[in-house]
Amino acid sequence: MSKLKVMTVFGTRPEAIKMAPLALELAGRPEFDAQCCVTAQHREMLDSVLDIFQLKPDYDLNIMEPRQTLSTITSKCLTGMDGVLEEAKPDLVLVHGDTSTTFAGALAAFYHKIPVGHVEAGLRTYDKWSPYPEELNRKLVGSLADLHFCPTVSNRDNLARENIRDGVFITGNTVIDALQTTVVKDFSFSEKILNVLDYVNRKVILVTCHRRENYGQPMTNIMTALRRVADAFPEAELVYPVHLSPVVQEAAHKYLDNHPRIHLIAPLDVREMHNLMARCHLVMTDSGGLQEEAPALGKPVLVLRKETERPEAVAAGTVRLAGVEEEPIFQMASQLLSNRSEYDKMAHAVNPYGDGRACRRIADAIAWHFGLRKEPPEAFGA
Ligand code: UD1
Ligand code: UDP
Repeated sequence: MSKLKVMTVFGTRPEAIKMAPLALELAGRPEFDAQCCVTAQHREMLDSVLDIFQLKPDYDLNIMEPRQTLSTITSKCLTGMDGVLEEAKPDLVLVHGDTSTTFAGALAAFYHKIPVGHVEAGLRTYDKWSPYPEELNRKLVGSLADLHFCPTVSNRDNLARENIRDGVFITGNTVIDALQTTVVKDFSFSEKILNVLDYVNRKVILVTCHRRENYGQPMTNIMTALRRVADAFPEAELVYPVHLSPVVQEAAHKYLDNHPRIHLIAPLDVREMHNLMARCHLVMTDSGGLQEEAPALGKPVLVLRKETERPEAVAAGTVRLAGVEEEPIFQMASQLLSNRSEYDKMAHAVNPYGDGRACRRIADAIAWHFGLRKEPPEAFGA
């Protein structure tokens, strides 16, 4: 029996973290010939993930430029993918989430008449400008894809409202699969400050902030609020691994440098990040992935955005929207730092995003769709 050629395509840090376990699952199965193409929309932050998961791409488009624009990323991915798809001729292309790589990868496959599978399908805010450009990227990929791997029931329902009902599977999010391999009890950090912080007697706040719609005034508001939190709470230690985007680097250093309890550090590798999250007191972030990981680890999250496409953890009580204005962010953080019962209400582990078996379900669903397996996988949460 000839093997089904399945190509994973990804380019940024979060896509890599969420696609690596799937690429490894596919590679370990006899029915698939697994291929991996990276666009390297991110360079260093991607390579760090590839190293940790020991994943060696078959193709690397190496497209990243400093301060790249959305058009450059999309056009370089699209033209780069042409040669790759002509040579590799996959039976299925898998893309992930909502980045420019995701959109261009799916479009390139469509131009080559190759079926597309969308991992992490069906997330929506219904605001085309937020997150920008991700909301439109994932909607467009929803139209291009033939198979839709939704993390949750509500993601499935979002697609149904757009009349996308065929080829839809509820699988859980692959990030929970990744998380189960990275968090260990006696982790030793290579970032020095993370080994000396007192996680028991101090309140370590893990911060990340990088979204394009937060560039400018929202980011200024966020940074100002963070500094106020550090000033107002002597027991707080803020750890902020700063994204390599020059826009983010400039904002973070401008507002947060030279404070004894604000630690601006380089991006962490994914194991360091997950283990830091497992030990911290509170997470403040505009990241998508952190909103899924922190609840699984029982850590409260304040989301530094106006909306979220991940309502499940809000409903479960572990995530709250803090917005992008200085005062509400400061007030919400202050409440959690000064009121133990408010904190305890949020600090319980919930797993609305997965059970660690998403990759297996996705691989089973692909096998079933292509006639290599008799039964479809059971839905996550069924
Ligand atoms: C991208 C995604 C966003 C995702 C985020 C995850 C798009 C449009 N945006 O945003 O959805 O949430 O990744 O982090 O696809 N840089 C480096 N080295 C790296 C990575 C980035 O130097 O390893 C710098 C470069 O100057 C680059 C800039 O960061 O031009 C911005 O990268 P880009 O991928 O365009 O945007 P992100 O904000 O990272
Ligand atoms: N992450 C990491 N190191 C860091 C910051 C984030 O490994 O310094 C991980 C994080 O745990 C999550 C993913 O990167 O798995 C989220 O990526 P990011 O916030 O860049 O993108 P988003 O999820 O917002 O698209």
